[in-house]
Amino acid sequence: MHADLAPILVIGILVALAAFSALALLVRRDLAPAGSWGGVLDGGGRWFLGAALGLGVIAFSIKLVILATLASFPSQTIAPLIEPRVLPPDDVAAQPPTATPPPANPTWRGLPVAVPAPIDNPSDPAKVALGQRLFHDVNLSADSSLSCASCHDVTRGNGADSRVTALGIGGQIGSRNTPTVYNTAYQARLFWDGRAASLEEQALGPILNPIEMGLPSIRELERRLAADPVYPPAFAAVFGSPGISAMRVAQALAAFERTLVTDDTPYDRFVAGDEQALSPQQQRGMWLFQDLGCAACHSGPNFSGASLVGPKNPYAVLRSTRLPIDQQGSLATDKGRAASSAREGIWRVPSLRNVALTAPYFHNGSVPSLEEAVKLMAQAQLAAHIEGGSREDLWWDADQSRLGRYVGKVLTRRDVDDLVAFLHALSSDTLTRRASL
Ligand code: HEC
Ligand code: HEC
Repeated sequence: MHADLAPILVIGILVALAAFSALALLVRRDLAPAGSWGGVLDGGGRWFLGAALGLGVIAFSIKLVILATLASFPSQTIAPLIEPRVLPPDDVAAQPPTATPPPANPTWRGLPVAVPAPIDNPSDPAKVALGQRLFHDVNLSADSSLSCASCHDVTRGNGADSRVTALGIGGQIGSRNTPTVYNTAYQARLFWDGRAASLEEQALGPILNPIEMGLPSIRELERRLAADPVYPPAFAAVFGSPGISAMRVAQALAAFERTLVTDDTPYDRFVAGDEQALSPQQQRGMWLFQDLGCAACHSGPNFSGASLVGPKNPYAVLRSTRLPIDQQGSLATDKGRAASSAREGIWRVPSLRNVALTAPYFHNGSVPSLEEAVKLMAQAQLAAHIEGGSREDLWWDADQSRLGRYVGKVLTRRDVDDLVAFLHALSSDTLTRRASL
């Protein structure tokens, strides 16, 4: 029996018994033969009153039985009266089929299985193999000392060089940190300032860059490759006609780079349903990453707004004025894609996959630890404060001639640790194993 109705029924039965006893007394007094005990009615009146009382008692009992039945089978008896009825199968079939599954969470998704490639550069194994050979060929640099892989180690390393800034031909030091080439296949803008729109467009940049590989011209590149015994037949086989051109070199390099994908991470396993893949601390960091607003810029499955596979928000002003004094100068010198006269630089939002493996950080590699990078991001981009600091900042905006005031969130030490723990969950197992060798 339904638990809530049991006491009501018991009380009902008790009241019924009390009423019945009272009635019996009344009947005994009023319906007795005249003179014996009470007896105020004559014979006809006694019969009429007796029948009416008897019917009343029977009706009350039936009521009790109905109540008990309703209470015992609420799902068959009461629920259909108060809940909308399920449509019979015929009506369901007449409804249009539910075509689209519910949308996936736009914030938390794994990398798509298919790597996006431009229609004019479809991939095939022979093209990838040619690109791999080119990527490792030192003949692509002026003094035959450097290949792409010298700075982007994809055999034993993390796809970058672990230096503060790149080391080009003749020992020349560049001004920017080398980003990893892993997962660049998913990026809609390449380079720190996003100046290249595709891997094809990006590929020839370093070959001709005087302080990277330093070849004097496209013609020199084509001449060198044509003089090699392997390349002419390989290009003819891959592209279906003889000829070595800069465009074909770029297409082969890009096809190889599109194979450099790392989705073997705890994060990808977690969003695929393995709840054990992230520790409770990492899950708290994941929540903070979303709640604080990191995910507004580092969005989608490649953790970058400059992505082919997620929400688009490719560039952001690096709020260098909100940085601690010692970082303001170094991170504000290079303005990225902003005019050199601008006060603050504008940068492509970088992917955070494998970020725990690719120190040092930011466009100039000036920040050595991930913890420091996370703190700087929270302060600069989200006007947050680190525990111990003040909640409030005043700043003078010279362009607008006004005094600004921020009241930021306060991040505790534990918040920072949790965010860092979450970023570790974006590290590929393969690259982590390489790093520990
Ligand atoms: C001397 C070191 C060096 C060499 C050699 C080099 N790169 Fe790079 N690479 C860099 C640096 C530094 C950047 C960032 C430059 C910038 O953003 O202005 C970069 C950026 C890139 C990017 C963009 C990554 C991103 O996240 O936007 C790709 C892709 C890339 N290089 C591929 C290549 C290829 C292909 C070659 C060979 C043709 C090559 N690199 C040779 C240092 C190097
Ligand atoms: C307003 C957009 C924006 C927000 C919000 C933001 N970032 Fe960034 N993040 C960037 C940009 C742009 C860069 C590159 C800046 C540069 O190199 O000068 C970057 C760089 C980074 C880097 C260094 C990456 C590397 O490879 O060197 C890390 C780590 C990082 N962000 C983590 C975070 C975390 C954690 C949060 C939240 C606390 C966050 N970001 C919030 C835009 C943002």
